[in-house]
Order: sequence, then structure tokens, then C-alpha cells
Amino acid sequence: MRGLVLGAALLTLGAAAAGACDLDAALGRALFARAWVPAPSSTKGNDGLGPLHNARACQSCHEGLARRPVRLGPDGTVASENLVLRLSDAEGRPDPVYGAQFQTRGLPAVPPEGWAIHAGAGYAAAGLAYGPLQPSTRVGARLAPALRGLGALETVPEAAILAIAEEQAQGPDGVRGRPRWITGPDGARRLGRFGLKASTATLEAQVGTAFALDLGLSTPDRPAPAGDCTARQEACLAAPGGGGPGNPEITAELVGLVARFLASRPAPEPAQDPQGLTLFAEAGCAACHRPALPSSSGSLPAYTDLLLHDLGPGLDGGATEPGITPTAWRTAPLWGLSETLRNGAGLLHDGRARDVSAAIAAHGGEAEAARARFRALPGPDRARLLAFVGNL
Ligand code: HEC
Ligand code: HEC
Repeated sequence: MRGLVLGAALLTLGAAAAGACDLDAALGRALFARAWVPAPSSTKGNDGLGPLHNARACQSCHEGLARRPVRLGPDGTVASENLVLRLSDAEGRPDPVYGAQFQTRGLPAVPPEGWAIHAGAGYAAAGLAYGPLQPSTRVGARLAPALRGLGALETVPEAAILAIAEEQAQGPDGVRGRPRWITGPDGARRLGRFGLKASTATLEAQVGTAFALDLGLSTPDRPAPAGDCTARQEACLAAPGGGGPGNPEITAELVGLVARFLASRPAPEPAQDPQGLTLFAEAGCAACHRPALPSSSGSLPAYTDLLLHDLGPGLDGGATEPGITPTAWRTAPLWGLSETLRNGAGLLHDGRARDVSAAIAAHGGEAEAARARFRALPGPDRARLLAFVGNL
């Protein structure tokens, strides 16, 4: 009898905890979809957008949490919001006037910085409203990635990632993955794992960065209400902001809800093809794209090592971040790639590769040996490997 009562009590407790989690995720989902408005607004808690920003909602760039194609206007102008331009010099210092990201939208009294255009093989900044970029500023396009399996990736033990880096350091291929260490606001050093250059260590930090940089909403870690405005952008600094010191537009609680929503989404389940996997491993792809990454929920078919690799000048991303060469990227997780291809979205950090074969052809630097081995495969094996990757 006692056991039964205790069992029932635990069950109720379990159900309540699960209910709280579901509720958090549901609230987080609503925040992810919400279109933010400028401060001050009549609907408190909905405001603080901008002054300069790239979109009004997370959802505008991450529709359905999937990677989408870039839409271009007839003159090559980027018409969709999901491609952003980052700005920095070769050492990762932001442009003194335009800041770290080129904001294509502004509130009524604040001119947008300009717009992105498709030029040659890449993208450029156009219509520069605040004068020229500093001569040393480099422009780098980044396409909004799919947001899948992030909760699982957050639970990969740091020791496992470091062990992969050590193993790579012994290998003959010149694969030399580097962990990126991030010091958080609490002073603790953690391994970076989110963002195309592994620039944040936790989902919460990544979500906070998105609120600040993409939407112009201040967070506890980035309290400036004017977001990415610089001292030279007076209208931006003068625009009314929500919040204030110690009272950010987005509280830590809201950041946490969105992070929990993203973490609650199921991870992709790539199709299995043992023969394809063997070819993938033999070519050397699996040195970086790990088919079985340990995590608290078992082995993940994420096809990443969460480490940074130098892929050579062909994948120079223009803008970068302090301490990271412009040619270094976190190994792109390949799970969910089939959905990206079905959507017709391009591959690699700026979507430049139309298909898997073009993506492989762009691999250089540390991936040179793998690319060469792929090229040397007999035709049918090459086709098999491409089909394997395309179905992940
Ligand atoms: C203007 C377009 C845009 C908006 C709006 C936007 N994002 Fe993103 N998001 C991106 C791009 C581009 C990247 C890749 C950035 C990088 O690391 O270089 C990204 C990366 C991410 C990542 C990292 C994914 C990974 O694989 O590590 C997460 C998580 C994320 N965004 C969540 C959000 C959330 C939450 C919001 C709303 C608060 C948001 N984003 C708003 C464009 C956008
Ligand atoms: C040295 C590490 C390394 C090796 C080896 C490697 N890759 Fe990659 N791969 C990366 C990195 C880093 C990226 C991200 C590059 C970028 O975004 O510009 C990437 C991106 C990709 C992408 C694009 C994914 C996306 O989401 O857009 C595909 C497809 C891919 N690799 C397939 C392969 C295949 C197939 C092989 C073997 C022939 C291989 N890679 C070998 C590191 C590696």
C-alpha cells in the first residue's frame, strides 16, 4: 500500500515536471514565432525591437526551424531575411561604423544600413547609408542554419570532443580540429559548440546573441538597448529603447524559454546505409563528420565533431571573430541534410554549394586528403557516397 501511494505520488510529480517542461517549450515556441515591435509599445513585454535589426522574429529567418533558400530580387538584391552579412577585419574586429553585422532594417527615424546583393560567386553590402566601410573591413555572408538536434548536441561531454581532437592530432591526413574555448559571463570556460564558428557554449548564450544581434533586443548579457549601433550612428543611439541598465528588454527567463523550446525539438534521424557509411569513413569524411557522437541520450548520428577546422582559402568567409581565422568553421552537422536539400537550400555557411558534390569540391585545407580520396573513387562508389550523404 505504502509503495503504491509513494509510486502514485512520484508519478504525479513526474507528470507535473513533464507538464512544466512542455509548458516552457510551448511558451518558448510562441516567443520564437513572435514578431517584436519597437519600444515603447502599448503591449508591454512585446517591445524593444531594433533600432537597427535584420528581422522582427526568429521565425523570419528560421521558418519551420529549417534551412531555406535565399530569395533574390530581379536585380540580385537579397529579398529574404535568412542571409545576413557579418563585418570584421581579418582579426575579427567589427567595422567602426557599421558594427559586427550589416542591419538591413531600421525603425522609422533610423536609416537601415543598406541591403545585401548577390555579386559574382558571393554576396556584398550595397546602399551603404552611413558612408563607406573601413578599408580593412571584410564582408562575410551566413545563411541561417536548420535548428535541429541542438538539445542533444548540448549534452555531448566536453571530454569526448577533446578526445576527438587528440585522436585527429595523431592522424596522417593533417586533420587538426581545434576546440574553441568561450569564457561565459560567470567567468567559467566552456567549449563553444553552437554557431557556424562554435562561438557560443550553450543554447541560452546562442539564443541571447540572436536576440541582440538579429533583432536588436537587449539581454542580460548584452544590455545595450541600441544593440549593434555604434557611436557614429546617432539616430540609432537616440531612438527610444525599452529596458535600461539592469532591466533588459529580454529577461534571462525569456531567453531560457526559447532555449528550452529549441532543446525540446527532436533530433533528425538519418537513414542508415552501412555500405555508404563505409565509403564515407574510408574517404576520411568521418574524421570530422563523426557518425556516432557520445551524449547523455546515447550515441548521436550528428556527423560533426563540434571542432573548428581550417578548410583553406576557398572557404574564406570574409568576416570572422577574434582569434579565429576566416577560413575556419565548425564541422557542419550533416544530420538533417536531406531536409535542407529537399527545401532547395544551398549548402556550406553561405549556401553557395548547390548539392553535396559541390560542397565536397569546396573542401580544402584540412579536408584536402578526404576530397582527393573522394575524387579518386570509382564512379559507382562516388555515387553511393553522394546518395548516402544526401539521405542523412
Ligand atoms: C536575420 C536572420 C536571423 C534571425 C532573425 C535569427 N537568426 Fe538564428 N541564425 C541566423 C544565422 C545567419 C545563423 C548562423 C550564425 C553564425 O553562427 O554565424 C544563426 C544561428 C542560430 C543558432 C545556432 C545553430 C547551430 O547550429 O549552432 C541558433 C540556436 C539560432 N540561430 C537561434 C535563433 C533564435 C532563438 C532567434 C530569435 C531570438 C534567431 N536565431 C534569430 C540568422 C537569424
Ligand atoms: C577536416 C574536416 C572535414 C573533413 C575531412 C570533411 N569535412 Fe565536410 N565540412 C567540414 C566543415 C568545417 C564544414 C563547414 C564548411 C562551411 O560551412 O563552409 C563542412 C561542410 C560539409 C558539407 C555541407 C553541410 C551543410 O550543412 O551545408 C557537406 C555536404 C560535407 N561537409 C560533406 C563532406 C564529405 C562527403 C566529406 C568527405 C569527402 C567531408 N565533408 C570531409 C569539415 C570536414
